[in-house]
Amino acid sequence: MFIHSSLIALRLEQKGPEKWRWQMILQRLKSFTMSKRGVRLARFGLIIAIITTFANTSTSSPPIAPDNTPFANSSGFAATLNINGSIDLSNEFFQSLGTNSRSCSSCHRIEEGWTITPEGVQARFDATQGTDPIFRLNDGSNSPNADVATVEARRSAYSMLLNKGLIRVGIGIPDNAEFELIGVDDPYEFANAAELSLFRRPLPSTNLKFLSTVMWDGRETFTAETIHFDLSHQANGATQGHAQAPDPLTDAQRESIVNFEIGLFTAQLHDNNAKSLIGEGAKGGPKSLSFQDFYIGINDLFGDSVTPKPFNPIVFNIYDRWKGLHGGGINGARAAVARGQDLFNSKLFRISDVSGINDEALFGSPSAVDGTCTTCHDTPNSGNHSVAAPLNIGIADGSRRTPDMPLYTLRNKDTGATVQTTDPGRALITGEWKDIGRFKGPVLRGLAARAPYFHNGSAKDLQAVVEFYDLRFGIGFTQQETDDLIAFLRTL
Ligand code: HEC
Ligand code: HEC
Repeated sequence: MFIHSSLIALRLEQKGPEKWRWQMILQRLKSFTMSKRGVRLARFGLIIAIITTFANTSTSSPPIAPDNTPFANSSGFAATLNINGSIDLSNEFFQSLGTNSRSCSSCHRIEEGWTITPEGVQARFDATQGTDPIFRLNDGSNSPNADVATVEARRSAYSMLLNKGLIRVGIGIPDNAEFELIGVDDPYEFANAAELSLFRRPLPSTNLKFLSTVMWDGRETFTAETIHFDLSHQANGATQGHAQAPDPLTDAQRESIVNFEIGLFTAQLHDNNAKSLIGEGAKGGPKSLSFQDFYIGINDLFGDSVTPKPFNPIVFNIYDRWKGLHGGGINGARAAVARGQDLFNSKLFRISDVSGINDEALFGSPSAVDGTCTTCHDTPNSGNHSVAAPLNIGIADGSRRTPDMPLYTLRNKDTGATVQTTDPGRALITGEWKDIGRFKGPVLRGLAARAPYFHNGSAKDLQAVVEFYDLRFGIGFTQQETDDLIAFLRTL
């Protein structure tokens, strides 16, 4: 057996609140390694690194997760590599540094793709009757005024967190905004101009090497500052906000957190159909990802920022070696992944009504652009936007509002025009009308570990993501193309 479960058992006796968590991790590791699949993989030499080590043998320090520890998800397993060594679970990232017992890992969990999933949050609710530190009124509940006196009250107070893994980000309308809030329809009766309730998915705190923009709305990205600075500012903001620390973190604490998270690379490593994602010369998994070059503006639409190279729509090439594999079974599944990669890179469709592209004077305000998924997801083998370019693809449009989301009506102070949205996005940072509904294009690795998708968790799985794009841009994917594209996205 690959797991030194006795060591973990020992650990479980020592930790109170985290006990359930290590129990769950242990359970998942066990069920994976005990399955035929796990054993078979091990026989084929695939690295199944397991929790075997402890930071040290003292009773109060948490264990280390060795690189590539597999964490199961619905389509296989994902793994994380820390280029600075193994994953040190005693880093400040895992410590309670505020006043409400939360740590960064309350909302960024290795076993949930470094974000949170509804299943994970529900398990925590059940294990603690809704008292785990993630269940806090400041931003875990649908409203800060919610009744949380009983288990049943808590189940309803934290329904957005439980159902979609959404945190309530509170941001007000900036003083000099070009618009005003003229209507609020908040099912939880809290939101107002001073603090809109924006229900957002925690972005994964991994693969940060590739970021050009920090946070969905870029509010932690500062002109003329490095991403390192942004992340350090963000770590402090998160501790004072989510963890309600009265005092700022020390510089040493910020550095320690940033140095930890910036070394992390996460990707799917095994797919139930295509099997090992590093097999037959493929370059899936976190190790290849960690070698991927990145700088701001790499492969930008208007030409690379460093080299003289023009934009190359072939953004992903990790499954090139699987092109044209013949037959059924594993080969068939791998060929489908390669076809999906081709579709992502090359399938042309018409991009229109995207604020940030089609109304952008800088680009000549083109009413339509013929592009591909990679027009917006242009960072090689990572898939985020390589420059800060917030775009409105319509996820927050009033027309897509579901009854669980607040709906805001905004009026342009100048023109009197009105718009309805569930989240003004970038506009709450800049105060600019044109920025309403604009969000960053996020990193697309490790997707299988962290449904639901989009800033508001509105796509419950990858099928829903592909359906969204198919309808939004009138792409006309065939059933085969839909299946292939999903097969590819699952392996990222
Ligand atoms: C209560 C839940 C919660 C806690 C605790 C929390 N975060 Fe987050 N984190 C979020 C949410 C939600 C977002 C996205 C918010 C947005 O974009 O508006 C986020 C975003 C981030 C991002 C941005 C990633 C990107 O792609 O832009 C980083 C980095 C991050 N968090 C790190 C941390 C660190 C470090 C800590 C601890 C100091 C922490 N978080 C604590 C919920 C949390
Ligand atoms: C016009 C620009 C644009 C195009 C074209 C585009 N995307 Fe996106 N993509 C975005 C933006 C912006 C977001 C974040 C939107 C949000 O959450 O509000 C996003 C989010 C996503 C997400 C969710 C990631 C997460 O962590 O939640 C996936 C998956 C995705 N895109 C896949 C695709 C695929 C597949 C295609 C091609 C069929 C595609 N995108 C085409 C801009 C684009």
